[in-house]
Amino acid sequence: MREAIVLVGGEGTRLRPLTLTTPKPLLPVAGVPLLAHQFARLRDAGIERVVLATSYRADLFDRDFAAGFQGMNIVCATEPSPMGTGGAIAHAGVMLSSAADDPVIVLNGDVLSGHDVRAQLRRHTDADADVTLHLVQVSDPRRFGCVPTNAQGRVTDFLEKMDNPVTDQINAGCYVLRRSVIDDIPTDRPVSVERETFPGLLRSGALVEGYLESAYWLDLGTPAAYLQGSHDLVTGVLHSSALTGPIGESLLLSDAAIDPTAVIADGSVIGQRSSVAATAWVHDSVVMDSVVIGEGTHIQRSLIGAGCFIGANCVLRDVVLGDATTLAAGAHFESQRIWRDDDTGDLVVEAL
Ligand code: GTP
Repeated sequence: MREAIVLVGGEGTRLRPLTLTTPKPLLPVAGVPLLAHQFARLRDAGIERVVLATSYRADLFDRDFAAGFQGMNIVCATEPSPMGTGGAIAHAGVMLSSAADDPVIVLNGDVLSGHDVRAQLRRHTDADADVTLHLVQVSDPRRFGCVPTNAQGRVTDFLEKMDNPVTDQINAGCYVLRRSVIDDIPTDRPVSVERETFPGLLRSGALVEGYLESAYWLDLGTPAAYLQGSHDLVTGVLHSSALTGPIGESLLLSDAAIDPTAVIADGSVIGQRSSVAATAWVHDSVVMDSVVIGEGTHIQRSLIGAGCFIGANCVLRDVVLGDATTLAAGAHFESQRIWRDDDTGDLVVEAL
């Protein structure tokens, strides 16, 4: 049986305040949790069983996926405390049923990718590799650790971020690992797979292959990237078999109530039971479920958490609004994160 591990235990600090209530992999992207897009890709690649490496808000993953996903078996391995990416793989590895030489796919839980997972698996099997990493080329590799390869595609180094990168190839966060490699990662302390496990394998002479495919690839770690990923799925730039509705200019989920004079555009999503009043407009934004948007309000490049109430004639640009936040009529916010403090009830506003 083909198996995968998906890493979903991070706190998603860059997407706060949305991630204060919902872990990043469960945030809705084009109407379904981000994780559903990854499950769909794994299922399309023939994966039958997934071990979710959970830590932060682990109970929510159990609640949403204990019953599986479209015929795929999903189980959770919850770390007693965060183990880092390598420690999480090792901890989840105990729940695999694959044999020592079998290939296991490991995915970061926050990446949208259009690459050919089956082709990556084939590359791994044909080379009889210990590890095969999906690599993508990016225009500005200075923000990432770089992964150079030789003429045969074999990985030669793992380099930290640098001002003059030697290659534009970066680790895309989707690996095929030989099961026995997973079993060799320590489970008794936090381990970084990128900084410790992979460089250690290279030093010990293991065969680490690069699978270079510059298909669609986006790490949804920041508000801007989250908006971009949602926009690309809604408008059809990226296909996902997890999508529940047709692609188009915008996506209105069930029971969304949009006044005929309101404008919803640029790949925006309006969540279930949300309402948008007369002459309001929503551009390039994600509005989650049960949100009320008042008359004449303008929302642009913003993420609006579930259950928010936004009064009339507000202007929100480049804003991240935490779940269940109320904004009075006429409020104007730009480039800010805003949420309601649970203890004091006060509105908290921070620069984005
Ligand atoms: P930021 O806090 O905004 O950087 O986001 P993050 O917490 O998701 O961290 P990062 O993007 O570096 O994590 C990459 C992937 O690894 C994500 O899918 C995380 O959910 C996951 N991850 C990071 N640390 C851990 C961990 O300690 N345990 C588990 N199970 N997963 C982790």
